[in-house]
Amino acid sequence: MTDTAQAADAAPAEAPSAGTLAAFEAATGFMPVDEGLALYAAAADAAGRTGLPLLEVGSYCGRSTILLADAARRAGTVALTVDHHRGSEEQQPGWEYHDTSLVDPEVGLMDTLPRFRRTLRAAGLEDHVIALVGRSPQVAAVWGSPVGLVFIDGGHTDEHATADYRGWVPHLAADGLLVVHDVFPDPADGGQAPYRIYLRALDEGFQEVSATGSLRVLRRS
Ligand SMILES: C[S@@+](CC[C@H](N)C(=O)[O-])C[C@H]1O[C@@H](n2cnc3c(N)ncnc32)[C@H](O)[C@@H]1O
Repeated sequence: MTDTAQAADAAPAEAPSAGTLAAFEAATGFMPVDEGLALYAAAADAAGRTGLPLLEVGSYCGRSTILLADAARRAGTVALTVDHHRGSEEQQPGWEYHDTSLVDPEVGLMDTLPRFRRTLRAAGLEDHVIALVGRSPQVAAVWGSPVGLVFIDGGHTDEHATADYRGWVPHLAADGLLVVHDVFPDPADGGQAPYRIYLRALDEGFQEVSATGSLRVLRRS
């Protein structure tokens, strides 16, 4: 067991250890700490109750994956994380969230996979993550086993968010948790596609468990 893993086991089950939290804060990405703590609590709950893998759409550089991986590790399961690693619309050159250090100079495209791998290795959590490199709907279409948590944080257009919801919710165990990031009821705060899949989930029988910033945790009622 690594030092990071040992330290994690001293922390309460619903909270990450200081080491995991420090790795999360040091990682490239945008998720604030309060949302990360809510994500960790949901992941620990889902993994502890179901014993099933935890699925993330949108690995990016591994910031949120660190939390899922550590919660999965503590419950004896794994985190699955899907990303084509070419970046979302808003991360492309000329857009608000573009990071030039994430462009592969040889092909001239975003490639977040190397940073993702370094981040998980530095956190001591590499062995608790299965990275699925591909387009979310394609991976979901061939996926064949249940998951304990679906965390949707991929593309933020209606096309992508809806495809993530439609592709992965059928794989969610009956007592699993659905987590949606970047839910902004007020259009002045951000794009509406994640909000629309959150509304759809409520309409299709999910109940809200918690709301922290733009992070919503839901379970089937
Ligand atoms: C907002 S970032 C994820 C942030 C990450 N969850 C975190 O908190 O650090 C969105 C990611 O989704 C990926 N993405 C967007 N559309 C996708 C799709 N259709 N299939 C797979 N990955 C996709 C992008 O490449 C990008 O890395």
